[in-house]
Amino acid sequence: MPSAPWWRSAVVYQIYPLSFADGSGDGVGDLRGVRARLDHLAWLGVDAVWLSPIFRSPMADFGYDVADYCDVDPLFGSLADLDAIVADAHARGIRVLLDWVPNHTSDRHPWFVESRASRSSPRRGWYVWRDPAPDGGPPNNWTAAFGGPSPAWTLDRATGQYYLHTFLPAQPDLDWRNPDVVAAMHATLRFWLDRGIDGFRVDVVHGLGKDPALPDDPPELVPIPHAALNDHESTHAILRALRRVVDAYPGERVLVGEVYLLVGKTHASYYGRGDELHLVFELPAAVLTPWDAAEWRARIAHVAATLEPIGAWPTWVLSNHDTPRHRTRFGSEARARAAAVLLLALRGTPFLYAGEELGLEDAVVPLARAVDPGGRDGCRAPIPWTPAPGHGWPAEPWLPFAPEPARRNVETLRADPSSILHLYRRLLAARRASPALRAGDQTLRPAPDGVVAWERTAGTDRRTVLVNFTDRAVACAAAGTVEVASDGEGEGRPYAGTLAPDQAVVLR
Ligand code: GLC
Repeated sequence: MPSAPWWRSAVVYQIYPLSFADGSGDGVGDLRGVRARLDHLAWLGVDAVWLSPIFRSPMADFGYDVADYCDVDPLFGSLADLDAIVADAHARGIRVLLDWVPNHTSDRHPWFVESRASRSSPRRGWYVWRDPAPDGGPPNNWTAAFGGPSPAWTLDRATGQYYLHTFLPAQPDLDWRNPDVVAAMHATLRFWLDRGIDGFRVDVVHGLGKDPALPDDPPELVPIPHAALNDHESTHAILRALRRVVDAYPGERVLVGEVYLLVGKTHASYYGRGDELHLVFELPAAVLTPWDAAEWRARIAHVAATLEPIGAWPTWVLSNHDTPRHRTRFGSEARARAAAVLLLALRGTPFLYAGEELGLEDAVVPLARAVDPGGRDGCRAPIPWTPAPGHGWPAEPWLPFAPEPARRNVETLRADPSSILHLYRRLLAARRASPALRAGDQTLRPAPDGVVAWERTAGTDRRTVLVNFTDRAVACAAAGTVEVASDGEGEGRPYAGTLAPDQAVVLR
């Protein structure tokens, strides 16, 4: 039997480059900053990093509006800086994924500039242009993401047609029915694959294929942005073609897609028959399931029931750059610690979001400093590296720090073996050492109210995981030695049969 691909047993760490580390002293994170901090990631024990977009961009959506897919934005550095990160990361056994944004470009991308220049532009058909409705309004009732319901169409007065943007007006949607778009976008993937990039997180994959008739959304769903409803059949052929591009390269390059649907099919279809995405995020459920045993048990069962029959490998994620951090949502560090055990002991590939290993909360961003049109500044606060004022940032960062940076920073938590940072490190080490945790089978076990229990097995290797979602002690029978405990209590000793409030344990 061929051995499982690396990404099945990997832990992936998401870096939001604007907020990770500042190597140039302008208050904005950059690639030199990332490169200088790779040792933190090697020490923590992650297997791969995913960099949120670093391409040339006017930053209307902080990089998710791309003006050149084959270059690094000067704010972040240069192509040579990225090559250096790839080389240094690979030397540490860490793979590098980029964040590829195929649903839309920036309105400043030369393709769109040409497309909007005239109705007869050779690139007109690269984007979705339509005549106004008979009343002069937008061609259909689709609404855009961000900033309350507003049309997903903007009229270009010069040419008298509307263009589609399922996100900001500065993010026109590409038309993936156009073979020239497909070829040009495939070429951008090859550009990075040739440079040694190990794979891509693919933004808004469920948006790519649109119903060619552009039918109205059902009126009752119009308050929901169309981006969270678009789930068209034609996307799957687009994904199969992307998969062929990536699979033509050696080294098990990976595609992990963002599927963010509020209504409609589940994410399972985006794995295809093993010929579409390698991995899929099922958002928003992945990041919004509340801290509740019954809800998590149902979610774990749902993921197994939808993915196991098709042989698809799950992903697990608690936080990212679009959503309040789970430390903030769940309400305490004790719960964030128990959540780390949950995330890292479930069957599937876990994705960490930079800063969760510090137990960061969202920053409180005063209105005067708010910058994101989508209201997501709080989870994008800069990473505090040191206790001293400035916290390792040579200039005032672009967003305020999360609470308690003098205590909750990398240097201080690294010096404290009881910290959440060390808990993450112990969990990653435990995974690395255990085939059952990395890639084993999983069975949910009966457990008292408020507790979720499961077993992981691979051959003779076996672990039991217990997570207490309540703030009281709960008796819960299980046998084994405590390998990792979310509060560090009892590690290396036999499990005594009771979980402390908010405690999670891995037993061997
Ligand atoms: C995805 C990204 C988000 C971005 C949006 C538009 O949801 O995660 O940050 O704003 O796509 O590209």
